[in-house]
Amino acid sequence: MTTTEAKKEIARLSEVINHHNNLYYQQHKTEISDYDFDQLLKQLVALEEQFPDLRQPDSPTQRVGGTITKNFETVVHQYPMLSLGNTYSMEELEEFDKRVGKGLGNEPYEYFCELKFDGVSISLIYENGILVKGVTRGDGVRGDDVTVNVKTIRNIPLKVKGKNIPERFEVRGEVFLSRSAFNQLNKDREDIGEEVYANARNTASGTLKMQNSAEVARRKLDCYVYYLLGENLGTETHAAAISKLESWGFNISDTYKKVKTIHQVFDYINSWEKKRLDLPLETDGVVIKINSLLQQRKLGFTAKSPRWAISYKYKAESQSTLLKDVTYQVGRTGAITPVAELQPIQLSGTTVKRASLHNANEIERLDLRIGDYVFVEKGGEIIPKVTAVDLSKRDKSKSKPIRYITQCPECKTALIRHEGEAAHYCPNDKGCPPQIKGRIEHFIQRKAMDIDSLGEKTIQQLYQLDLVKSPADLYDLTKDDLAKLEGFKELSINNLLTGIEQSKEVPFEAVLFALGIRYVGKTVAEKLANYFKTMDALSSASYDALLEAPEVGTKIAESLVNFFKDKQHQKEIERLQKAGLQFTLIEKEQHKLSNSLDNKSFVISGVFEKYGRDELKELILAHGGRVLSGVSGQLDYLLAGDNMGPAKRQKAEKLGVQIITEKEFEQML
Ligand code: IVH
Repeated sequence: MTTTEAKKEIARLSEVINHHNNLYYQQHKTEISDYDFDQLLKQLVALEEQFPDLRQPDSPTQRVGGTITKNFETVVHQYPMLSLGNTYSMEELEEFDKRVGKGLGNEPYEYFCELKFDGVSISLIYENGILVKGVTRGDGVRGDDVTVNVKTIRNIPLKVKGKNIPERFEVRGEVFLSRSAFNQLNKDREDIGEEVYANARNTASGTLKMQNSAEVARRKLDCYVYYLLGENLGTETHAAAISKLESWGFNISDTYKKVKTIHQVFDYINSWEKKRLDLPLETDGVVIKINSLLQQRKLGFTAKSPRWAISYKYKAESQSTLLKDVTYQVGRTGAITPVAELQPIQLSGTTVKRASLHNANEIERLDLRIGDYVFVEKGGEIIPKVTAVDLSKRDKSKSKPIRYITQCPECKTALIRHEGEAAHYCPNDKGCPPQIKGRIEHFIQRKAMDIDSLGEKTIQQLYQLDLVKSPADLYDLTKDDLAKLEGFKELSINNLLTGIEQSKEVPFEAVLFALGIRYVGKTVAEKLANYFKTMDALSSASYDALLEAPEVGTKIAESLVNFFKDKQHQKEIERLQKAGLQFTLIEKEQHKLSNSLDNKSFVISGVFEKYGRDELKELILAHGGRVLSGVSGQLDYLLAGDNMGPAKRQKAEKLGVQIITEKEFEQML
C-alpha cells in the first residue's frame, strides 16, 4: 500500500468507526456486530502502526488503549486544584450568602447551581484544540499524568470542534463510573469469580490509575465537565463558559440552573434531594458558584478554597437498628460473604433487613457484636451499608465479639484464606451444594448456554432430586426425570428439553465461558476461542503456550492449566462433547491487510520498542502469517526483542531459524 492509499484508507476507516461509535454512545443504537466493529478497528490499528506518521491525534484507535504505564509522571498544575468549602446546613449557606454580599459591596449577583458529582476530579489540557494532557488532582498542586487512560473515555473530546478555539485552555471535570457501568463491571467480576467492588467512586479512582489502558477502556468511565480555565477566553460568566464547553463537544450534565437568590438555591437543593437518585451517576451534594467571572475574581480565594463557591452536601440517610445476627453466604467460587441480619428499618423509602459486611476485615474494623445497635446508611448506593456501631447503646455485659466462622456453613469444610485476598473460601468445590448449584446457574445463563426455561428454583429441585449435580447431567435429563419436578407438566417439560437441545447450537466461545473457569469472563473466552480454535487445542496447551495468547497473563494461564488438568473436569468436558456441544470455533471471514506474510510462521519473544506483543500478533495475522508458541524446526522466524531468553536464541540458531528484529519485521510488511 502506498502512503497516499494508506491515508485515504485511514480516513475512510476512521469515518466509518466514528459513525458507529457515535451511534452506539450517543444514540444507543447499533448497525453492525461487535465482531465486525472490532475488525474495522483492528484494520485501522494495523494501518496506523505501519504508517505512524499518518496517525491523527483524534483517531478512534486512541479510545481502545493498550499502553502500559509503569509509573505515571508527576505534573505541576498550572492553576492549583483547590477544594471547596462545604456545609450540611442551610444556615451556613445563608452565612455564605452574607459574606458574598458583603464582599461585592452593593452589586447584584447571581448564583449558578450544579450537582456535586461523586467521582474523581480531572484536569484536561488542550492545545490548538487537541487534548494533550489529562492529570489527576493529586495533592492539588501536582497530580499524575494519566493521559493515556483519559483518552479512552469516550465523552472527553480528543479534538474540540467549533470556531475561535483558544490556543490553550484547561477544562476540569469529574470522571466517574455510571451506575450501569459499575453494575456491569461487578457482574463481569462475578462471572470470573472475583470479589465485587463496594463503591463506584473508589472504583473510578482506581480505574483511572490502572497501568493497562486497554483495561481502562473496557471499564467505560464517563466524564462531566464543570469548569473552564485559561487566558483571554472571552467569557464573562460561568454560564457562558458552560455553554461554550457544550458547543465544543464536552459532556455537560443538564442539571444546572442559574438563580438569583439564596432562597432559590434552597429550592434547587430541595428539588434534587430525591430526584438525584434517578440520575445515571451518584451525586452527593450541590455546588453553588457565583456566576459572574469578574465577581469571582473580586471575591478571590482563601488559602484552600474559592470564596465564590461552596458545596452543600446531602446527608446520607442513616438510622440505628439492632444487629440480630451475622449469617454467611457461599458463592459459586466458594467465596464467603458475611451478611448483617438487622431489625427491619425504613431507609430512603425502602425496608432494610440485611446489609453486606463484605469480609472478616470489615467486621473487625467495625468491631461488631451481635446485639449491637448499628448505624445503617443508604447513600447513593443501592446496597445499604453498616457504617458504625452505636457504642452508647452497647450492653457490655452481654455483647460478645463476633467469631468469624472457620467452617463452611453449608458443607462444614474448613475455610481457607488465600494470601493477599480478604475473602475466606470454602475449598470443597466438588461437594459444596451452593457452589455446585452456582456453577449450574452460571452455565445456563443468557451469556453462556442460554437455557432460559431453567430457573434457580428448578435447579434447586433438580439438585435435591439428585438429577443434576453438574452441567453435563442436564443433557441426560429425560421426560420421566422432569415429570418428577413439582409443577412440571407436558408443556413445561417440553420447553425445558427444547431449551437444553437448543443450547447445543451455542457457539464455542459461549461454551467456554459457561464452564466457569476462574478469570475466564466473556471477553477472555472469546479471545481464547479465536486463538486456539478448538477445546482440544486449548485444554492441551501448556502454560507457556497459554501465555502466548492475547489477553492471557500468568493468573489466567495458571487457572486454565489447573482447570484442565483436573480429572473430574476432564470427564465433564468429555461428557459435554458427547452431548454435542460446540467445541470448535466457527470462523468468520478475517479481514486481511495483505498477503505479505502468507504461510510464514513467527515466534515473538522479548520486549519491543514500538509494538506490544498483542499488537505484533495482530499484525502478523492481518498480513496472513501465523504465530507459534515455541521454537521448532518448522518455524520460519524468531522475532526477537530486548531481554529475550538466551535459551530461545540458542535453540533458534541451532535449528537454523532466522532471527529478525522489530525493524526487519516492519520491512517485511
Ligand atoms: S467546581 C474551585 N463543580 O468537588 C472549585 N466541583 O470539593 C472547582 N465536584 O475537587 C470545583 N462536582 O472534584 C465543581 N459541579 C461541580 C462538581 C465539583 C463534583 C468535585 C470536584 C472538586 C470537589 C470540590
